[in-house]
Amino acid sequence: MKSADIKKILILNGSPKREHSSTINVTKAFVDGIVKETNASVEYINLADLNIKPCTGCLSCWGRTEGECVIKNDDIPMIKKKIEECDIFIESYPLFFFGMPGTMKVFTDRMLSMMKTYMGQKSPENGESFHGIRNPRDQKFIVITSCAYTEYGPVYEPLIKQYDCICGKGNYLMLFSPQLKTLMDLNNEAKINKYLAKFNEAGAEFGKNLELSNETYELLKKPPFTEGAYKIFLNNFWTNEREGR
Ligand SMILES: Cc1cc2nc3c(=O)[nH]c(=O)nc-3n(C[C@H](O)[C@H](O)[C@H](O)COP(=O)(O)O)c2cc1C
Repeated sequence: MKSADIKKILILNGSPKREHSSTINVTKAFVDGIVKETNASVEYINLADLNIKPCTGCLSCWGRTEGECVIKNDDIPMIKKKIEECDIFIESYPLFFFGMPGTMKVFTDRMLSMMKTYMGQKSPENGESFHGIRNPRDQKFIVITSCAYTEYGPVYEPLIKQYDCICGKGNYLMLFSPQLKTLMDLNNEAKINKYLAKFNEAGAEFGKNLELSNETYELLKKPPFTEGAYKIFLNNFWTNEREGR
């Protein structure tokens, strides 16, 4: 796949806050950067607006059919078609309790039909996907996620492990944005713009090379505040909340 092959970008916004999501600001900055290099069309979909029924666990999609889900009367067939047709699929969401938000998990469970049937294999030693995709296409998969904690490392370990098992190491790109909500709440336009500009430039780099250099990747993970300053902000925030200011 080359940069010129990027024609369609689909973004699934998994924050319950829809367009008021902090994460979506970072995602938009990154996507705008990709578009600068590729001119791709962009579609944003709010997961909270979709009708998605939970997986019934019947495993029909792995047994009786080749990847067909028995649930036909919700939005999964529509979104699955869009995922299959796009060149870059982006999931954008906040970290909830060290994992993806519940609605996102319900959506992810329904994607089981896109994976190959489990045949008793043990975990692959080389970091490949546990199952493998049923009909793989040359496309990119990116997860952009924000959280409140200062360190991205320990808090994201369970989520990274989950995506490694599902997609295989190296088959997806996960971008982290720690301390994001506080940055947005402070309304310091200059600081916000500087932070978003990093993601915008990184998006342009991704649009051009379809990957990020280690240097860029490390830069994006850096929290906007020092540990000391962040503790003060949090202390003020919770005090104000308690006092109803
Ligand atoms: C139910 C819930 C669980 C959360 N769990 C975590 C967590 O485990 N680690 C963390 O750093 N932040 C956690 N957060 C904070 C959000 O991830 C953070 O505020 C995020 O930036 C909000 O993004 P959004 O505005 O796009 O929804 C949690 C927030 C909620 C509401």
